[in-house]
Amino acid sequence: MTQPNNKHTIVAPSLLSADFAQAGQQVKDLQNAGATHLHLDVMDGSFVPDITFGHKLIADIAKNTTLTLDTHLMVDNPYHMLENFALAGSDIITVHAEARGITHLHRTIMKIRELGKKAGIALNPATHESTIEYLMPHLDLILIMTVNPGYGGQKFIPEMMDKVRNVSNMIGSRNILLEVDGGVNANNATDLRNAGANMLVAGNYVFSGDYRQRIASLMGEA
Ligand code: DX5
Ligand code: ZN
Repeated sequence: MTQPNNKHTIVAPSLLSADFAQAGQQVKDLQNAGATHLHLDVMDGSFVPDITFGHKLIADIAKNTTLTLDTHLMVDNPYHMLENFALAGSDIITVHAEARGITHLHRTIMKIRELGKKAGIALNPATHESTIEYLMPHLDLILIMTVNPGYGGQKFIPEMMDKVRNVSNMIGSRNILLEVDGGVNANNATDLRNAGANMLVAGNYVFSGDYRQRIASLMGEA
């Protein structure tokens, strides 16, 4: 059975909702407001239509923060980029199961671990969790997309709640983070934690209010 995990919920505010021109200050403010993690959405204009930023911005942020850096690669052909994102200071690197050029998903995950980083796989809303069944022993994190990737501020897809529950059951007692990304806010955070999610990404919700209060409310503390 899935156990609610209120005590250990990690909140990872997403830099995507920040003002990039003020990124350094906003990251400091998040840290002062109690954030421990920062979610970094890398978009390449191919896997998703928009382009955000690359490893240089992550390296510059890494120099000035102690936050755990959670890099979400929404890119095609991620393999050849892994080293740059590792060297930049990412602590977690997550690739999409659906990315073009990721035929060798197992090899990609092993490469992230060889680089000394936590390895994650993200699943789009339409992708069945069975895709990653045989990779479970090698994963540090599974990211369930609860919107279609590419933009902040979209509406949570309610059917994804069952998927979170299913993946939580697949994880069982394994030491794998279960991260949820897209449309997370105070209205669905409790259900997500109860379904087994222990890492919540939030862009618009955190950035459209008081950071400390919003982070605490996602953790179930306010
Ligand atoms: C969407 C990104 C998300 C985004 C979430 O493709 O992967 O990380 O920043 O933003 P909100 O919380 O506003 O849905
Ligand atoms: Zn993301």
